[in-house]
Amino acid sequence: MSLADIVFLPEDPAHDHEIEDINAEAFGPGRFAKAAYKIREGGPHERSLSFVALDQDKVVASVRLSRIVAGEGRGLLLGPLAVRPAYKNQGIGKKLVHIALEAARDIGAGVVVLVGDEPYYGALGFKRVPNGQLAMPRPVDPNRLLAAELKEGALAELQGMVMHEALAGQRAKPPLAGAA
Ligand SMILES: CC(C)(COP(=O)(O)OP(=O)(O)OC[C@H]1O[C@@H](n2cnc3c(N)ncnc32)[C@H](O)[C@@H]1OP(=O)(O)O)[C@@H](O)C(=O)NCCC(=O)NCCS
Repeated sequence: MSLADIVFLPEDPAHDHEIEDINAEAFGPGRFAKAAYKIREGGPHERSLSFVALDQDKVVASVRLSRIVAGEGRGLLLGPLAVRPAYKNQGIGKKLVHIALEAARDIGAGVVVLVGDEPYYGALGFKRVPNGQLAMPRPVDPNRLLAAELKEGALAELQGMVMHEALAGQRAKPPLAGAA
């Protein structure tokens, strides 16, 4: 198998079971206790901004984006990102992140946030969020709270507690450009 055999597609509801299996395999039961999981519990992920990698018709990797707010700022939360063990280290994870960031840019999103390893995501355009700028609903190592700014100034607008956009729906906010 090479990267050329892998097809990258927007996620479809038919992929849900396989994605759940991949995430269970990658993160185990501990995933339910994570801060990012708690945020994602607040509402649905953005299916049109979530992608799978397929080998033949089998899902071998997945990345999801969810809409978030923090203070006056809006953005997207990236995760989970997971690749089946047999498919690791072939560029699939990086390609999925690239595709997700491009899709985020296309809809006019200003910033994508995640909790993850800086040595991996740093090469993909993510930097540490300044200490104290954001609060998460569960403890997070501040060195792992990262953001990729797609529009200058968008990260600075994110302040305080990060929550799913669906939980802040009562607040009048204009939709992101291109959003349904
Ligand atoms: C992390 C993960 C998504 C990477 O996907 P992948 O397709 O295997 O990675 P890629 O092929 O895109 O990149 C491989 C490179 O990243 C490096 N890398 C992988 N995980 C890394 C990590 N956690 N920290 C730093 N570097 C990492 C590899 O050593 C390799 O380096 P090289 O190119 O110099 O050889 C995958 O290993 C995985 O699913 N892990 C379990 C779940 C997880 O940790 N998800 C991310 C948490 S948000």
